[in-house]
Amino acid sequence: MKPLPSPRLLMGPGPSSVTPGVLQAMARPPIGYLDPELFDLLNELRAGLRSLFATANSFTIPLTGTGMAGMECCLANLLEPGDEAVVGVMGFFGARIAEIAKKLGAEVTVVEGEWGRPIDPALFEKALQGRKQVKLLACVHAETSTGVFQTLQPVASLAKQYGALFAADTVTSLGGMAVDADINGIDAAWSGTQKCVGVPPGLSPITVSERAMNAAANRKTPQNHWFFDWQLLKNYFDGAHAYHHTVPVNLYYGLAQALHEIEAEGMQNRFERHHRCSSMLMNGLQELGLQPFAQEGCRLPTLNTVRIPASVADEAALRRRLLEEYGIEIGGGLGALKGQIWRIGTMGACADERSVLTLLAAMRTMLH
Ligand SMILES: Cc1ncc(COP(=O)(O)O)c(C=O)c1O
Repeated sequence: MKPLPSPRLLMGPGPSSVTPGVLQAMARPPIGYLDPELFDLLNELRAGLRSLFATANSFTIPLTGTGMAGMECCLANLLEPGDEAVVGVMGFFGARIAEIAKKLGAEVTVVEGEWGRPIDPALFEKALQGRKQVKLLACVHAETSTGVFQTLQPVASLAKQYGALFAADTVTSLGGMAVDADINGIDAAWSGTQKCVGVPPGLSPITVSERAMNAAANRKTPQNHWFFDWQLLKNYFDGAHAYHHTVPVNLYYGLAQALHEIEAEGMQNRFERHHRCSSMLMNGLQELGLQPFAQEGCRLPTLNTVRIPASVADEAALRRRLLEEYGIEIGGGLGALKGQIWRIGTMGACADERSVLTLLAAMRTMLH
């Protein structure tokens, strides 16, 4: 066996670095998936996740799997072959939602937005008007490929007005900015723990409204998947605690510690810290001559995007040097933006002034 990888300062699009407390919590001995103490812990985790999502939804769980698992789980429960879905695509992850919805047999109308800007709600309305009965409207809250946030409330209101359910991807927002699931009128949301929540990858917090649970329970066709079936998951997490799968209890320990740290910091303070560090980073990068990519006013406090200057001939080589010489990870562009932008996270433990200053110092040395 080779030695394990070196520690890094993770300032890419995720995962982000975690606190020593979270790592220590994860080193506890595992317990079994039917241990009564595990369900006590799960009750606390679920309450903590409800606070993060700002929801009263009973079915709020740390799903086993990463953000993609949460995305597929929510879509697979809600969409049946032939259902109409409207999906907002302003970047790579919106396109993923559309791709999965199509694979599930839904008739998908894509509402295209320009990469780097949010989607005009009027475009969603036009799509809803043009279809018979849309079952699901879905979009990304925090688009990690561009660094843009979509204000959810106007989109959710349109879904309600046209009798559709509303689902949102909150992978790069949960824990770093307000999701306000109930205020916004979200029926289903999925996230990941490895970004702003501050736990290593492997859990996907999801929250589902009663309305969405009922829609899944009253499908015309039976669920054509097993692991993600909400009813089967509910049988494990609630009531009978019937065996579903061997849950990753050490990740739960990490999540418990992270939720404890979030509570101690205070949610609003945490959101402000993400904002402050993002502004500090963007100001510093602009002083180095880098131009922001995402439209002003819609820039994420969690994931920052800048255009790669023409003077940088090999951007991948610069990122490799940053990793190998300084131990810092940042991200390159994804999909259509490959080679054009850098994506720099200020998420969770890395939304921190010292980390930002360290990265800026390293960038200054390399760019000049
Ligand atoms: C907005 C968004 N959605 C979904 C995902 C998929 O999450 P994961 O890579 O944890 O499966 C990501 C990952 O970066 C993301 O940023």
